[in-house]
Amino acid sequence: MDIVHSVSQLRRRLRKEPNNVFVPTMGNLHEGHIQLMRIAKPRAACTVVSIFVNRLQFGPREDFDRYPRTLERDSELLRGAGVDVVFAPDEAEIYPEAQTFAVEPSGLQHILEGAHRPGHFRGVATVVLKLFNLVMPHSAIFGKKDYQQYLVLRDMVRQFALPIEIIPAETVRAPDGLALSSRNAYLSAKERREAPRLYRLLRQAYTGIMGGARDFQRIELHCMSQLADHGWHPDYVTVRRQADLQRPDADERELVVLAAARLGRTRLIDNVEMFLR
Ligand code: PAJ
Repeated sequence: MDIVHSVSQLRRRLRKEPNNVFVPTMGNLHEGHIQLMRIAKPRAACTVVSIFVNRLQFGPREDFDRYPRTLERDSELLRGAGVDVVFAPDEAEIYPEAQTFAVEPSGLQHILEGAHRPGHFRGVATVVLKLFNLVMPHSAIFGKKDYQQYLVLRDMVRQFALPIEIIPAETVRAPDGLALSSRNAYLSAKERREAPRLYRLLRQAYTGIMGGARDFQRIELHCMSQLADHGWHPDYVTVRRQADLQRPDADERELVVLAAARLGRTRLIDNVEMFLR
């Protein structure tokens, strides 16, 4: 496994690798990330992983400064997963000058996560386009844990006709159901015990809707009030259609219930897809 830090090293290393698959990350890797490597590995001769905490996608009051940076441990995990190339640039390498051009995602950037994190998806789309141009993969893997991010990037690739296949990966969870996330490290022991409630409520919503419940608003309010009753500050719990995260029509069959809520100083997101018969 090669670890490269500069764009020129990366380009040199990949010059003879036309067949590569790419997994972008911000590091502090966990089993959820490693699952993406497992999906990537059999798809190409060369698996490339980037580790870059992208300032552009963080709001001014978000956790950019305290986001955990653990390159040595990450490298060991990636070596174990059989990754071929790790690209771990510093900021000056990705943004040698102010990034005055940006990718403006569709209407998707203004709802749900976008409404609570203005500019977030512009920052994500801009860095991912840039990383795609550096790595030039034929495929890239993204987790459905960040459902809206996956949709934004899928739409970006389609609308710009990028020759890259976007492959979604299922959410990896702890045994108690909590979706793995680098941000789980911020939780106190007490909060960590409370955190699985988010997924439990989404599962209840899933069971209700699969069982025929159609009053989505009631379900949403129930989940939000349960969270609030247990000390959370919910940003949203909402049932949407999978295709574009708009509110579903009555006959919509492909749904997803998405949630974001703060527990103490940690903001957690999760979602569950539903395919109605
Ligand atoms: P990061 O949060 O490090 O996540 C990297 C990838 O891992 C994303 O595709 C994310 O959806 C996926 N992932 C995280 N937790 C997961 C879990 N529990 N199960 C499955 N997949 C999971 O997402 C980003 O970084 C950044 O926004 C990035 C795309 C790298 C752009 O900066």
